[in-house]
Amino acid sequence: MSEFELSKMPSQKGKIAVVTGANTGLGYETALGLASKECKVIMACRNKDKAEQAMADIRKEVPNADLEFIKLDLNSLKSVREFAKVYSEKHDKLDLLINNAGLMIPPLMRTEEGFESQFGVNYLGHFLLTNLLFPIIKKTDKARVVSLSSIAHKSGRIQFDDPNWQNSYSRSDAYSQSKVACLMFAYELQRKLNNLSSNVISVAAHPGVSDTELGRYIPKVLYYIFKPITPLFTHHPKEAAKPTLMTALDENVNGGDYYGPTGFNEMKGEPGKAQSTGYSKKRDEAQKLWELSEKLTGQKFNI
Ligand SMILES: NC(=O)c1ccc[n+]([C@@H]2O[C@H](COP(=O)([O-])OP(=O)(O)OC[C@H]3O[C@@H](n4cnc5c(N)ncnc54)[C@H](OP(=O)(O)O)[C@@H]3O)[C@@H](O)[C@H]2O)c1
Repeated sequence: MSEFELSKMPSQKGKIAVVTGANTGLGYETALGLASKECKVIMACRNKDKAEQAMADIRKEVPNADLEFIKLDLNSLKSVREFAKVYSEKHDKLDLLINNAGLMIPPLMRTEEGFESQFGVNYLGHFLLTNLLFPIIKKTDKARVVSLSSIAHKSGRIQFDDPNWQNSYSRSDAYSQSKVACLMFAYELQRKLNNLSSNVISVAAHPGVSDTELGRYIPKVLYYIFKPITPLFTHHPKEAAKPTLMTALDENVNGGDYYGPTGFNEMKGEPGKAQSTGYSKKRDEAQKLWELSEKLTGQKFNI
């Protein structure tokens, strides 16, 4: 019996969610789940055609889904700023910000501003997005910010002397760095919120392991070798999106919580409280990361 059943969650009518990377994988399932609860969903995607196809697919399952596309390319801080501007002109509240979009183990690539792509897209783009949307989030009753982390955060450390991998590059270490950064951000944002008398909460989720397009940079040979056994340690994106939906919707979730699958090694299974490393909870490291993020994005975060 699942601890979390979407069908038992209250209607979200009147609420607005922004889901980054909503056109495929876990973002798509998250958007579909929220739309099925009558939440208006902003599809924050970089590709309009893909977003429109995803909206058409969601409407096949939820004919009255209230969906809107606003372009967001996390590869560019200019695009993040443009998204926040467009959103703020159209909407005066934001109940759920789901920082979901991401990429994993690509060859060394750089964002428009020269950040290593995983640090830039998975983490820094979302840091700036949350920052710029925060004035609206703050005035929305019981708003939630959900950050997507990963089991990979467990080996993650922030390379403060070389966060953008100028000296050497390890695809997997860079992914782990980006995902521990997302988790540290979620925890630090909640610590800062604790100092305010605000009912906004910051939470984090990870999906376990799911066979989505995230695997696009896994070497094909490895992909096909493991293909026959992947069902043993992966679950369907619909299941994998449950921890995100739980952190977004469940009334028993508290600020600073981290949810993921509860099966073997948190790879699959019903959603529940997840384990995070001591490093991810270190306040001094999180504060250093916050300051570094403000410096790199050129934007002070006014909570
Ligand atoms: N799948 C897993 O096993 C797993 C495990 C742990 C954590 N996660 C996390 O879960 C999140 C979603 O992953 P997924 O498995 O659903 O991956 P996915 O199927 O590859 O989907 C990723 C989404 O992010 C979008 N995206 C990538 N780069 C972007 C950019 N520059 N700007 C805007 N959007 C961008 C993609 O858009 P395009 O379609 O245009 O590329 C796509 O919509 C990620 O944060 C990932 O780290 C996944």
